[in-house]
Amino acid sequence: MSKARTDYAIEQDWSAYTEDEHAIWRLLFERQQRLLVGRACQEYLDGLQGLGVAAGGIPDFRRLSDILDRATGWRIVAVPGLVPDDVFFAYLAARRFPSTCFIRRRHQLDYLQEPDVFHDICGHVPMLMNPVFADYMQAYGQGGLKALRLGHLPRLARLYWYTVEFGLIATAEGLRIYGSGILSSAGESVYSLDDAHPHRLRFDLRRVMRTQYHIDRYQETYFVIDDFQQLFAATRPDFAPIYREIAILPEISAEAILPEEREYAAFPVGQKRRAAHQRGPSLGRKRLEDVRQNH
Ligand code: PHE
Ligand code: FE
Repeated sequence: MSKARTDYAIEQDWSAYTEDEHAIWRLLFERQQRLLVGRACQEYLDGLQGLGVAAGGIPDFRRLSDILDRATGWRIVAVPGLVPDDVFFAYLAARRFPSTCFIRRRHQLDYLQEPDVFHDICGHVPMLMNPVFADYMQAYGQGGLKALRLGHLPRLARLYWYTVEFGLIATAEGLRIYGSGILSSAGESVYSLDDAHPHRLRFDLRRVMRTQYHIDRYQETYFVIDDFQQLFAATRPDFAPIYREIAILPEISAEAILPEEREYAAFPVGQKRRAAHQRGPSLGRKRLEDVRQNH
């Protein structure tokens, strides 16, 4: 019997990238650098700096893995694209982040439905430099294997979507982005914080797991955490009874808002975003006290 590889791991083959592919990385990176000042959370910016991911070009995964490994014990594994759920979860549970290698083409700078190396490396990997987030991702992988066994994967997938990919965090300076799907998108990194259209709701595990999402447009709803400890603590309980509990409740559509829910305000229109060092003293934590009631 032939020994087929079932881990989907490939070689990144860094030397095979063309000059044009590195140039696309530079374009994307420089654009996000400008946009993410005052928008990305500090944990992300620290991670980016710690990794030394920069505008130079597509990074070599081995170099990044060595830095990441020293920081939080995570490593990057090159894969050809989306991998099956069980493979994906097993990687996360083993503190391995599967990353695609290819970079989008020039006509896809603004939108791409599948992950590429810019999304995976520039969006996800810096967050894995944060110890609490690193543990959350591993726990998610373990939870994924369990959800698969229990037949509740769609509910757990929503948690990934609304946290790892599209999460917002409340800080003393206002809402910030930690979700990789937003961090790697020029359009959504502005829309998610500044646009009046989407709902920004306080993170609630059951609410999140009941909420549908769209994969082909900007989100209708974002969920806001206070900090990563809160996220980690909220997801620590055994989900088996929670899955059973919500299985009998109705699903919530992506754009719905429930009667008792309050929204965090979008960034006030007309007010200019400034870098943290340009700002005066903090006006206090932006929690539910300063959210506006919207109906
Ligand atoms: N506590 C979850 C469970 O029992 C596992 C999990 C942790 C899932 C963190 C997601 C994130 O299934
Ligand atoms: Fe992703």
